[in-house]
Amino acid sequence: MAVQISPSILAADFARLADEAAAVPNADWLHVDVMDYHFVPNLTLGLPVVEALRKATATPLDCHLMIADPDRWAPQYAEAGAGSVTIHAEAARAPIRTLREIRSLGARAGLALNPATPVDPYADLLGEIDMLLLMTVEPGFGGQKFLDVVLPKVRRARELVERHGGRIWLQVDGGVDAGTIERCAQAGADVFVAGSAVYGASDPQAAVDSLRAAANRALAT
Ligand code: DX5
Ligand code: ZN
Repeated sequence: MAVQISPSILAADFARLADEAAAVPNADWLHVDVMDYHFVPNLTLGLPVVEALRKATATPLDCHLMIADPDRWAPQYAEAGAGSVTIHAEAARAPIRTLREIRSLGARAGLALNPATPVDPYADLLGEIDMLLLMTVEPGFGGQKFLDVVLPKVRRARELVERHGGRIWLQVDGGVDAGTIERCAQAGADVFVAGSAVYGASDPQAAVDSLRAAANRALAT
């Protein structure tokens, strides 16, 4: 398992997104939280910002769609050049069709589950995805407290992914910081989203390095 860090620009300065992307040259991805005031009670950004950001940075974009109608919009994020597009299982009405469309447009397809959504009902969909995102806070806002109650599901998801060949990435998102990343890594996560822990730090680049080191340490023990 290779550790990857995906800083969430939700915690960055929205007026300076190109600079904020450049502040983490050591990041594997930039996590872009798209919220629509319907699926979650918050509003962030959409396609025009993703298109602009893609031109402003070489770091691939990891788009997390917290929107009510991902079947309609997700393919356009792939067309806009996102490297990865993740839809929520709770929102998609035709997840298999949408995940296939994302892949056919050349992006990695991700499926996200809220903290209270069990993973087992989605075991048969693993062949359709490149990444499973397990939310470790209720989606909608950065800076929330990590939900330890999700860790057994991370372990279960790791089992399912291994049984499926181990090709699928397992991402955790929400409250991931120096104090929680080791628990996530030990439970089986390999892609770590961190908003406040990166952009709230005085040196975001150093924060990415130390999160990566902590996750690697946890995997080595
Ligand atoms: C929350 C978003 C997260 C958020 C994480 O709904 O999906 O990506 O930015 O922020 P932190 O790391 O501050 O919890
Ligand atoms: Zn997110």
